[in-house]
Amino acid sequence: MNGKKILEVENLELSYGGIVAVRNFSVALDERSSLAVIGANGAGKTTLLKGLSGLKKNSGGHVRFRSEDITTTGAHVRASYGITLVPEGRGIFSRLTVMENLLIGSYIKNYDKEYLQKKLEEQFTLFPKLKERLNQLAGTLSGGEQQMLAISRALIGEPELLLLDEPSMGLAPIITEQIFNVIKNITLKGVTVVLVEQNAGLALKIVQQAIILESGEITRKAEASELLADDSVKKAYLGI
Ligand SMILES: Nc1ncnc2c1ncn2[C@@H]1O[C@H](COP(=O)(O)OP(=O)(O)OP(=O)(O)O)[C@@H](O)[C@H]1O
Ligand SMILES: [Mg+2]
Repeated sequence: MNGKKILEVENLELSYGGIVAVRNFSVALDERSSLAVIGANGAGKTTLLKGLSGLKKNSGGHVRFRSEDITTTGAHVRASYGITLVPEGRGIFSRLTVMENLLIGSYIKNYDKEYLQKKLEEQFTLFPKLKERLNQLAGTLSGGEQQMLAISRALIGEPELLLLDEPSMGLAPIITEQIFNVIKNITLKGVTVVLVEQNAGLALKIVQQAIILESGEITRKAEASELLADDSVKKAYLGI
């Protein structure tokens, strides 16, 4: 692939105090591409997404978005560029209603009333459950519904680079499947996606490229289909 790059990361390093959690992380993503980051507990996946979204400052390296150096910009600026994180644990506002959560997702764009309505309708088509529960407090939704809301809240702001942290966490297989279908459709619509997942089997089926992260370092970079067929990957990450 030699499309236009949307994200270029060079030797990114992320640390907690003196302890380096992610090191020498380099990746270049084409527009409209999708990447899975696979790794065990503590490998540095969440830290990486925090670093890409600007929630965490880097201790080394560079990040460029559409050729602009954004290494020192914070999360607000990156969000305004369309870099949107759906965090581990979902990060919805549990004491606000479903509708209020969705509206918060839309504020970044300052839509007029008509366009906002259109964006809301799009979300309801994607997740009909949310429409039934608009006035319900988000904290009282089921886990699956909360994940749908978290993704929906991100989508309503029309992200260009969507960073998803373990969307399958704690969900029943059938709900996970629904959520992954939606994520696949998001990638097909041309949104660039970085998907962090422990459920490697599912993630590798819906993305193009994949990275394996071990103790904060990339140990493998390949087409997702190649990793899916690889015996050592199957053994270590797919449980087969
Ligand atoms: N706030 C923090 N302070 C100190 N160390 C941290 C902090 N957050 C994470 N770490 C450490 O950084 C390393 C990477 O953690 P991270 O949460 O990024 O892993 P992960 O791949 O997302 O794991 P999981 O699959 O369990 O979510 C771990 O060793 C962890 O203990
Ligand atoms: Mg994590």
